Amino acid sequence: MNPLVVCDGVTYRYRDGTLALHQVSLTIEEGEFVILAGASGSGKSTLCRLFNGLIPHLYSGDLSGRALVAGQDVRSTPPYVLSRSVGLALQNPEAQSLATTVARDLALGPACQGLDCATIAERVHEVAALLAIDPLLDRQVSALSGGEVQRVAIAGVLALHPRLLALDEPFAFLDAAGGGRLRETLRMLHRRGVTIVVAEHRLAEVADLATRLIVLHEGQVVADGMPRSVLACDVSQWNLELPPLVCLARAAGLAATPLTLDEALDIAPSLARRLSSQNNAPAVSPAIIWEDVSFARGNRLILHQARLSAAPRDIVGLLGANGAGKTTLLRLGNGLLRPQRGIVRVQGRPIGR
Ligand SMILES: Nc1ncnc2c1ncn2[C@@H]1O[C@H](COP(=O)(O)OP(=O)(O)O)[C@@H](O)[C@H]1O
Ligand SMILES: [Mg+2]
Repeated sequence: MNPLVVCDGVTYRYRDGTLALHQVSLTIEEGEFVILAGASGSGKSTLCRLFNGLIPHLYSGDLSGRALVAGQDVRSTPPYVLSRSVGLALQNPEAQSLATTVARDLALGPACQGLDCATIAERVHEVAALLAIDPLLDRQVSALSGGEVQRVAIAGVLALHPRLLALDEPFAFLDAAGGGRLRETLRMLHRRGVTIVVAEHRLAEVADLATRLIVLHEGQVVADGMPRSVLACDVSQWNLELPPLVCLARAAGLAATPLTLDEALDIAPSLARRLSSQNNAPAVSPAIIWEDVSFARGNRLILHQARLSAAPRDIVGLLGANGAGKTTLLRLGNGLLRPQRGIVRVQGRPIGR
């Protein structure tokens, strides 16, 4: 099988002398889903720029070593030829939008590839649906929010149907819903055989989707393997943002590296045991405690046997939808309301009586 990307001893210095990549050698096969991780300044964006020829063709730095993308030497292949195989969504999505409206922006890439009008329109609608930006098609790109521009930039790259899809920090401006949608899109594209490279320092977003995790540190590849194997090693020295589930397992001293919720649930019992046995702090009596508190207004039961306690110096977040009973619980806690059942104690003394 021909690799899609081959870097052999690649070293790159920007024009101002900054060494951004140092002796990088790696091969990416067709169909892989690679996370390019590393702290800020480790060289992720520089490597992405090399994949689509922005380096060396638009940045006049000093490149040595060999880089092949889809069998073509990036040094001797112009970016417009490389763009037939590689689509790169830039870290700064605003730099990517050239046309006035979203629809025109999405059409620009396929139009530059010489596709016919019907195919261009088909591509625009396909990627707009994928990234849920149909309602934005007639809007001016310049008037969109950061997250919307990011989705448009990613859609614009997808419209090229690249063999290698490279996304540089694609989750940066997305909210939870947008991030979730992008994850599903990446999962689906990977299933369809698209090779994906995501440069990302927040590993929680894609660690469970990727087949491979490459860590860059000061322009060098310092780890390369399956995400689970790499994350099982001590990666703290490279300032990676670990998935919270992995942090939790580490904090409990467990050897497992859970990347999905299901995997975390599998280890939940041992996690709970370890965390409680690690908690050797002497028991303190709660500053406030709601004991089986019930409260109704008319026929509407607002709180039903609510139990909650907070220790001195605890900071407790109370979450719940509108009408879930948050304010009522607090009012019962400071005596503005009296529980119809149960009891509230502050420093051991019942209140509201
Ligand atoms: N256009 C540029 N000119 C000069 N130095 C740059 C430029 N872009 C990035 N660098 C430098 O190259 C190194 C790698 O940067 P970059 O590839 O952007 O890392 P990352 O994407 O991992 O944050 C850093 O030292 C950075 O300051
Ligand atoms: Mg970057």
